[in-house]
Amino acid sequence: MPSNPQNDFPEAFEICQKFDISEEQMREIVHRLTKEINMGLAKDTHPRAVVKCFITYVQDLPTGKERGKYLALDLGGTNFRVLLVTLKSESEINIESKSYAISKDLMEGPGKNLFDFIAECLASYCKEMHIEKENLPLGFTFSFPLQQVGINKGIMITWTKGFKCDGVVGKNVVELLQDAINRRGDLKVRIVAILNDTTGTLMSCAFANRNCRIGLIVGTGTNACYVEKTSNTEMFEGYQTSNKPNMIVNCEMGAFGDNGVLDFVRTSYDRAVDKQSINPKRQTFEKCISGMYLGELVRHVVVELMGKGLLFKGLNSQAIQEMWRFNTSYISDIESDAVGVHRQASMVMDQLGIRTNVEKDLECLRYICQTVSTRSAKLTSCALVCLINKMNSKDCSVGIDGGVYRYHPHYHRLLTENMNMLLKGSAKFELIVSEDGSGRGAALIAAVSA
Ligand code: GLC
Repeated sequence: MPSNPQNDFPEAFEICQKFDISEEQMREIVHRLTKEINMGLAKDTHPRAVVKCFITYVQDLPTGKERGKYLALDLGGTNFRVLLVTLKSESEINIESKSYAISKDLMEGPGKNLFDFIAECLASYCKEMHIEKENLPLGFTFSFPLQQVGINKGIMITWTKGFKCDGVVGKNVVELLQDAINRRGDLKVRIVAILNDTTGTLMSCAFANRNCRIGLIVGTGTNACYVEKTSNTEMFEGYQTSNKPNMIVNCEMGAFGDNGVLDFVRTSYDRAVDKQSINPKRQTFEKCISGMYLGELVRHVVVELMGKGLLFKGLNSQAIQEMWRFNTSYISDIESDAVGVHRQASMVMDQLGIRTNVEKDLECLRYICQTVSTRSAKLTSCALVCLINKMNSKDCSVGIDGGVYRYHPHYHRLLTENMNMLLKGSAKFELIVSEDGSGRGAALIAAVSA
């Protein structure tokens, strides 16, 4: 039987109410985000803008005619990847890749170590594929805030998503990587483009879907890019004279709210997670939405209820008390159980050292997960509707990637429902999983810019 939270677990219900965002609040969020985006775009407000709206120097969407062999690097998610992408025809793209784990030491150590590691992985991969002599063009998907100065030049602004390497902020990341490659002396590779994962996702989706105008990531972090009129991108030198009508803008919207404009919907749990994070007071929007934080939000609520003896009574474990131990993937698992079934939920809790089959508790756990993931999807819907309105689009596709969107069983539906609610039929949209934006997108940008 589906439960009635208000009756069955009133204390959990009360806490979860705090995560609820009304339609009116959602409209206010759309309004506020629009304002922040306009501040990021305009030259006089950009320096103090929170949502930076970096120009990407990508002004052409793919035509579908791009061909050739490219290397790509993907840094910014859970794994670091090296890819070899061969664009053979519109329908045939060959991608080979290898993932490498990035240790915590690398994530928080000196930047030089990180770039040496990347170069080392690249070299070993090229040798493995027997392409080390080929002088291939490389697209570098670097998914952090980057002030681009050109298609292959970008100044690091700040780290996000658990990274914090010294000696990188303020530097041209392309140069740091090229130097690391050159130091080795065993590789011939030209970095021809640097891009954000959102840009790669948009390009990758646009290759087959000419109507794609937004690239969205809901993964470890969250962010979106969209196609803006060049004439609105004041931070671009040639914005008034460019003969190209469009420019992809990387919003870096994870930072939305860093100036307090989202405090009206944030909870004490958000503040607790923010405080314990490696970047307090930063990436406010991202911390309500993305995979790095959702599990931790759930864990905070669960631990509070356990502490009051209102959930998993008489049970406890070291694991559940440990910060970051509740993976966001657990939320997807738990919500995958059919109504009235708690197989995944009890398996997850078992992994966390809490062995129980008490149905009401597991039902309550699911309810907490639903609360946190629904809020994430609502906030993401606000962002998408904001961009659709900003472009004045009547019909567009959104290319999406990231583990939360891919693996959460209801995220797609939640986005669709909430966007429809906000748009009230004023625009049509299609949400499309973008296949390997960071690889394919990087190759396409390398191709378009080469
Ligand atoms: C973080 C990064 C951003 C990236 C997003 C998704 O917000 O700052 O550049 O696009 O994560 O990976």
